[in-house]
Amino acid sequence: MNNGRVLEVSDIALSFGGVTALAGVSLHVNRGEILGLIGPNGSGKSSLLNCINGFYRPDSGKVYFEGKDITRLPPYKIAQLGIGRAFQGIQLYVGMTVLQNLLAGRHLKMKSNPLAAITYWPWVHREEVEHRRVVEDIIDFLEIEAVRNWVVGALGYGLRKRVDLGRALALEPKILLLDEPTAGMNVEEKGDMVRFILDIREAMNIPIVLVEHDMEIVMDIVDRVVVLDFGHKIAEGNPEAVRTDPQVIKAYLGEEEEI
Ligand SMILES: Nc1ncnc2c1ncn2[C@@H]1O[C@H](COP(=O)(O)OP(=O)(O)OP(=O)(O)O)[C@@H](O)[C@H]1O
Ligand SMILES: [Mg+2]
Repeated sequence: MNNGRVLEVSDIALSFGGVTALAGVSLHVNRGEILGLIGPNGSGKSSLLNCINGFYRPDSGKVYFEGKDITRLPPYKIAQLGIGRAFQGIQLYVGMTVLQNLLAGRHLKMKSNPLAAITYWPWVHREEVEHRRVVEDIIDFLEIEAVRNWVVGALGYGLRKRVDLGRALALEPKILLLDEPTAGMNVEEKGDMVRFILDIREAMNIPIVLVEHDMEIVMDIVDRVVVLDFGHKIAEGNPEAVRTDPQVIKAYLGEEEEI
């Protein structure tokens, strides 16, 4: 495998009963890049992320992470290897605080019981100090200091998405899979999220697979784009080339107009 590639997906196929979600998709992610993964609703974007992080088992095909075949590993092992995931539907504990959610996000790195670590927080030893340091850095980075002790259920949608990103960062991932991180956000919240995504790439040097419906964001921040349609990869390339690709335009609009 090419050394510049952190992740490689090879000929992944997946179907649910009669429905083909992925029909032999291959793609790769280079070190340090933001790869846009776009396509109309139901085209297989989330399914592909699920095959990468082990939530779905592909019917055929392989996933390689840093040269290692991870296709058959369970999700927790894949997360431990360094593939972080933020979800299209947010997956947080709404009854717990922001701080507790971020600590819970580190549980795969904890040797001791994560709930014990939270409960006995001030008294416990070095391991917890390290967890706390990582989580405090994330709180700083995502500018959520003011809501650190709020229960997540009391937060607006935009902040919840931010905390969900923090939960993914808590595992100190080597690559991040973001599934529509700006969906449902207002313009200001979107601007903030875009800034965080760019910072994650720049400051933390973490490559990102970004599923995003907002074409303006895609065109602005991704290095390359892969386009899915009905489970097929129909285009791949730099954002400008993809934007004017007739097949892509057709997939989105059913007619030949620019997206
Ligand atoms: N767990 C599942 N059970 C049955 N069908 C599924 C499942 N997950 C996905 N599918 C089907 O696979 C296809 C691809 O779905 P997927 O959620 O991957 O699309 P998507 O590109 O993420 O769409 P969206 O933009 O709406 O999020 C769809 O036809 C969907 O109904
Ligand atoms: Mg989806």
